[in-house]
Amino acid sequence: MKLTWFKKGTIYQIYPRSFNDSNNDGIGDLRGIIEKLDYIQSLHVDIIWLSPIFSSPNDDNGYDISDYCAIMPEFGSMDDFDELLKGIHDRGMKLILDLVANHCSDEHKWFEEARKSKDNPFRDYFHWHKPAKDGGPPNNWMSFFGGSAWELDENTGEYYLHLFTKKQPDLNWENPKVREEIYDAMRFWLNKGVDGFRMDVIPLISKPIGYPNAPNVGFRKIIEQVYANGPTVHKYLKEMTEKVISKYDAFSLAEGVGINEDNAGLYVNTDRKELDMLYHFDILECTIVNGKFEEVSPFDLVQMKRIFKKWRDAIHNSGWIANAMGNHDFARMVSRFGNDKEFHVESAKMLITMLSTQNGTLNIYQGDEIGMTNISLETINEVKDVQSLNFYNENLENQKFSKEVALEMINKEGRDNARTPVQWNDEINGGFSIKEPWLRVNPNSDKINVQYQDKDENSILNFYRNLLKIRKQYDVFVFGDFEEIEFDNQNLYIYKKSLAKKSIIVALNFTELNQEISSLTMTEEYKVLVNNYNDIATKEDKVILKPYQGLILDVG
Ligand code: GLC
Ligand code: CA
Repeated sequence: MKLTWFKKGTIYQIYPRSFNDSNNDGIGDLRGIIEKLDYIQSLHVDIIWLSPIFSSPNDDNGYDISDYCAIMPEFGSMDDFDELLKGIHDRGMKLILDLVANHCSDEHKWFEEARKSKDNPFRDYFHWHKPAKDGGPPNNWMSFFGGSAWELDENTGEYYLHLFTKKQPDLNWENPKVREEIYDAMRFWLNKGVDGFRMDVIPLISKPIGYPNAPNVGFRKIIEQVYANGPTVHKYLKEMTEKVISKYDAFSLAEGVGINEDNAGLYVNTDRKELDMLYHFDILECTIVNGKFEEVSPFDLVQMKRIFKKWRDAIHNSGWIANAMGNHDFARMVSRFGNDKEFHVESAKMLITMLSTQNGTLNIYQGDEIGMTNISLETINEVKDVQSLNFYNENLENQKFSKEVALEMINKEGRDNARTPVQWNDEINGGFSIKEPWLRVNPNSDKINVQYQDKDENSILNFYRNLLKIRKQYDVFVFGDFEEIEFDNQNLYIYKKSLAKKSIIVALNFTELNQEISSLTMTEEYKVLVNNYNDIATKEDKVILKPYQGLILDVG
């Protein structure tokens, strides 16, 4: 039987470029992670997900791979990797790598060959198409990062498909040789002992037959209807699991782009033997209407409850998901969903209280355990993220927004917010590196850093540690049946969870004001498991939550 150690585990995502720089060249690296393994273990996390560490020209920071079985020299050597893996296993943790298999780099030898001529043996590793009658791209598909998803290759006179940047050509999964190449790369790492993969944009690997034009329904819907969930995706995922993953004690975590609650089961229901779990985008994008840098909707608590509920209903007892409120692709969790000023500490703690009691594997992102916040970059020259830069440059052409507004939008939503170096101490560059880092350190590193929080028993860091430890002892956090209380309440999120004979009540205040909970009377039998304040106020035994207060009560 397939082991399910990953269900109760907490995943800690590391973005290596920004984690810790061991040799002071301004770029985080594998030895930098090795130096911090005791720290990572101290968080009580179980699984480390490393964003890509493979050879890459870094057009999209490693999500454009030029050799699937080599370490990016900036990050270190294969010996460093082996030492890292051993260090992780010695501490009882697991390691998953980021498999970017929908596309590779245009500097991968497959693409360098493929573009040489139409009859090159590697030509069919990619999606080529002759120009439209007017010489333009074959269809209206747009790249996720702006502009057409097709690029003309002058040499052979045909277009190739790239759903991301033009330096990330999409691989043609219909070609069995491509699939075998990817499976071989997976085996290479699994044979070294890695414990699985996070699968980058995996729902995109199968393209609709004939590359039909996308309807005019907004980018999110186009992803669901056209780019993702293609006709052969499940066939290939089954094949991948059967031929590769199932041969190891390993698991797969899908980036659920374009997946909704109706088709999620096709990917992660246990009996289908495809993927082990996915993280969806509904929470991560709950304030993003169509796509980044477009319309933004205000945060709506009831909508968020609805999202959690619909996914619970869709997945419960049949498949599995991971829950995340932030990663390297979104602005910082506390800045988006909490209050990163007046109630920074309280709201950071409240948010993780909520996330850690949702059904599913908990997925946290580096730096969130100290409440790292968004950064305000002052000029466009400081922006490093290719998605933000493409938006900015496109905007220069179509002048939809002024330059100032465009930069403001990047500062609000851009991916660099999550990619600033981890703030280790109050020294130069937050202790990340002595040399100027590849991306500016947040100036608040003099206040928000690991060193201070480690010593402070009331810090966000020590709150995470305590919470994650308790979570391991209470299966009800992860697997419990869910009962909503005051579902339509716009200020409070309250729920009871039960499993076997154990029940907990979670009560969370999402506002900056005190909130009385009419439906919750404190009794002496209730044991306070988690509280982000020192006390619980009551009025005639009714609980009053302070701003951003969050509680977990063991109610028997
Ligand atoms: C995923 C990654 C993102 C990357 C994209 C293309 O969404 O998380 O960082 O840019 O895929 O690989
Ligand atoms: Ca370095």
